[in-house]
Amino acid sequence: MNPNQQWAEQVVSWEYTAAATPDLNEVPVQPFPASLHEQGETRVIALDISAVLETPYVATAPGLLANYVRICACEQITTNVTATSEVFFVMRGSGRSETANGTITWQQGDAFTLPSNQGVTHFADEDSALYWTHDGPLLTYLGATPTAPRFKPAFYSKAYMDGEIARIREISMQQKRNRVGIILGNSDCAKTKTITHTMWSLYNLLPAGAVQKPHRHQSVALDLAVFSGPDTYTLIGKKVDENGNIIDPVKAMWATNTVFVTPPGWWHSHHNESDQDAYVFPVQDAGLHTYLRTLDIQFVR
Ligand SMILES: [Fe+2]
Repeated sequence: MNPNQQWAEQVVSWEYTAAATPDLNEVPVQPFPASLHEQGETRVIALDISAVLETPYVATAPGLLANYVRICACEQITTNVTATSEVFFVMRGSGRSETANGTITWQQGDAFTLPSNQGVTHFADEDSALYWTHDGPLLTYLGATPTAPRFKPAFYSKAYMDGEIARIREISMQQKRNRVGIILGNSDCAKTKTITHTMWSLYNLLPAGAVQKPHRHQSVALDLAVFSGPDTYTLIGKKVDENGNIIDPVKAMWATNTVFVTPPGWWHSHHNESDQDAYVFPVQDAGLHTYLRTLDIQFVR
């Protein structure tokens, strides 16, 4: 068979109106309990829903993978993935991470990012757990490997993030802003105002008794509840009514050190009916969406 005939065998086509919206499985609202990282040996626990997404690789969303990294006291673990961006948040414990760019120390509430790294080893001084997200699934889908880092690594201490929240808290609450939060950035990604060139993250305070009204965006959110009291949750649904309330929402409860997935395009609102301030750390593929001009973030009035 000559190449023309061979290549022609690959061809398929579809009538336009019947095929304009391919039938891909939706990203589900998916919780991942803290019990996954609170027991057992030192290991990486992939928050894998590839069976639902029908991706041939582990994934939490088509382009992102979230993991819990459990490290028992005085133990270590190496994480190494083909990704352009990695975001870590320290859920519990303290320790250090040895990277090609140097060794950083960390404790509960700190976050840090790495570009296309060649492997990093995490050492725990006490029982520790990291929330680790990256865009490895996107690269697997593309069949690509990174050729160069697109940003320099960054370290966001809990003290820095809490200080920034304290600075904006009063004015945000007085003006009833939709968030009491800080979008975390990297000076190499100032154009998109994101934590890496593909990923986005926010450190968001949901004060006791507060409601943060619905909004939606085309990026997926892998939300870590950093701290939460009881009766704190996110309502998630496809549509809002004329009063800006989400129709038939799914309720994702916040519980400290748990993760839930907010599907792309779905409306979501945050509710704290407890007497304790709550914090959430969502990670999204919104760096990529912002750059592609496809984020389409909308807020109810
Ligand atoms: Fe959101």
